Amino acid sequence: SSQKIYQPLVFPNGTSQRLPQTIIIGVRKGGTRALLEMLNLHPDVTAAESEIHFFDWEENYAKGLQWYGKQMPLSYPRQLTVEKTPAYFTSSEVPERIYNMNKTTRLLLILRDPTERVISDYTQVFFNRMQKHKPFQSVEEMLIRNGRVNLDYKAVNRSLYYIHMQNWLKYFPLSQIHIVDGDQLIKEPFPEMEKVERFLMLSPRINASNFYFNKTKGFYCLRDGVRERCLHESKGRTHPQVDSTVLNKLHEFFSEPNRKFFETVGRTFDWH
Ligand code: A3P
Repeated sequence: SSQKIYQPLVFPNGTSQRLPQTIIIGVRKGGTRALLEMLNLHPDVTAAESEIHFFDWEENYAKGLQWYGKQMPLSYPRQLTVEKTPAYFTSSEVPERIYNMNKTTRLLLILRDPTERVISDYTQVFFNRMQKHKPFQSVEEMLIRNGRVNLDYKAVNRSLYYIHMQNWLKYFPLSQIHIVDGDQLIKEPFPEMEKVERFLMLSPRINASNFYFNKTKGFYCLRDGVRERCLHESKGRTHPQVDSTVLNKLHEFFSEPNRKFFETVGRTFDWH
């Protein structure tokens, strides 16, 4: 179909806007921005700044690959183009669409402890509603309904990784999906980024000296030559204190889904 044809314009200096060969598919609040910025330290990588929402938003997908390509940054032929849209991971129609664009697309998925992720997700929505002076419920009210974990709360569903993973594995082999440990990326970004470089078959150009711990922020920040920068203040927010019985319920709730996820991907993570 015409959807498949994308012919980028090549500029005299040899650059063009090419479709991404690798996509950060999620998960929301997993550390997707940190991963994109850290990967962008590599000279052979160019990253789309904003979230494109091509494969998950109908009005964008309908515009076709021509539109998608035009959202990409300029790159040289030796460079990889990457985009990140965290909602892709949990959108069931997306795997087939990416497969149809290019079945050799290398996928990056960054995951965090599902309980931490839910609370981070809640915190994001809480901040947005507060800023707009909209009413909001406490994290406990959102999480628990009739004494049980509330499955209707979308943030809970997004943390059921094995369910979403199964959709991806219908189209992509596990070897084409690299899972970044988001908890490790927070604690020690460099070793996680070395693994990403290897997965993408990039030369080892990201160094330990590209990262320094910023005590004020409480997170690692990036050093690119002489330029030093931390992620935006919306990344690395203080989470609300969650009632311990609610936390225990969550940990218990996720233990079986987590086990299923470990089985699905043949790897375990240091989650509760
Ligand atoms: P919190 O703000 O809840 O701590 P995403 O970019 O996918 O929305 O993920 C946001 C999360 O990235 C943050 O969640 C934070 O924990 C995590 N993160 C990982 N590395 C980070 C870094 N170096 N600086 C800031 N946040 C980082």
